[in-house]
Amino acid sequence: MQIIAHRGASGYEPENTLIAFKKAIELGADMIELDVYQLKTGELVVIHDRTVNRTTNGVGHIEQLSLADLRKLDAGHGEKVPLLRDVLEVVNQKIPINIELKGYHIAEPVASLLAEYINEKGWSPDSFIVSSFHHHELQIFMNLLPVVPVGALFNRIPFHLMPIVYQKNVASINLNAKHVTARQVQSAHLLGKKVYVYTVNDRWKADHLQALHVDGIFTNYPDIIGPTAPRLRKLAHFTS
Ligand code: G3P
Ligand code: MG
Repeated sequence: MQIIAHRGASGYEPENTLIAFKKAIELGADMIELDVYQLKTGELVVIHDRTVNRTTNGVGHIEQLSLADLRKLDAGHGEKVPLLRDVLEVVNQKIPINIELKGYHIAEPVASLLAEYINEKGWSPDSFIVSSFHHHELQIFMNLLPVVPVGALFNRIPFHLMPIVYQKNVASINLNAKHVTARQVQSAHLLGKKVYVYTVNDRWKADHLQALHVDGIFTNYPDIIGPTAPRLRKLAHFTS
């Protein structure tokens, strides 16, 4: 079962920051996950919420900020809100990156940036997985850059009713830990899709999902399983 560091090692460092991604690599995560919006000035930026209010010392809608505005913000422990490009440079193909498209009209700039890394810098398309709850954006992305695998995110909707999952480029079906069932895992596998489950911060839940043969879990604690798993992890509750 793959361990995917959710917003980096966000249980230990401020979420979606460069130190959180470095920590995830240090802890041996198999992949990192991050969330992406586009600034008013066009740059792709790594942040979970539509506003900067919760995760920085500023206020405002991320899509209405310029790069200069963004550079003034503290995202915790003196970290800046990183550009997607900054994260790619730091990760530098050490582990794959799951890029979750959060904003609308974002598929095109993300496809363009990843195409630059694949075509001009020689990165493998498998260095990336692009995912989203917005399946329309995913479809646009797939049409623009079909070499990169994508993950279709779901919350409660039975995924087999959604036409997108039957497309070849959809490599994974990403399900909410609160609702995943053994039957869903089996039917995804029958379709030839991997199953990644979010967000699992409880070691016992992780063990249960491993027994269901899920292919990966998103966790804020990349050391959640294995012999070095912190004992206190049993006190953490899983969040969505
Ligand atoms: O991609 C898995 C997970 O990140 C989806 O939920 O809200 O944490 O982006 P969220
Ligand atoms: Mg996410």
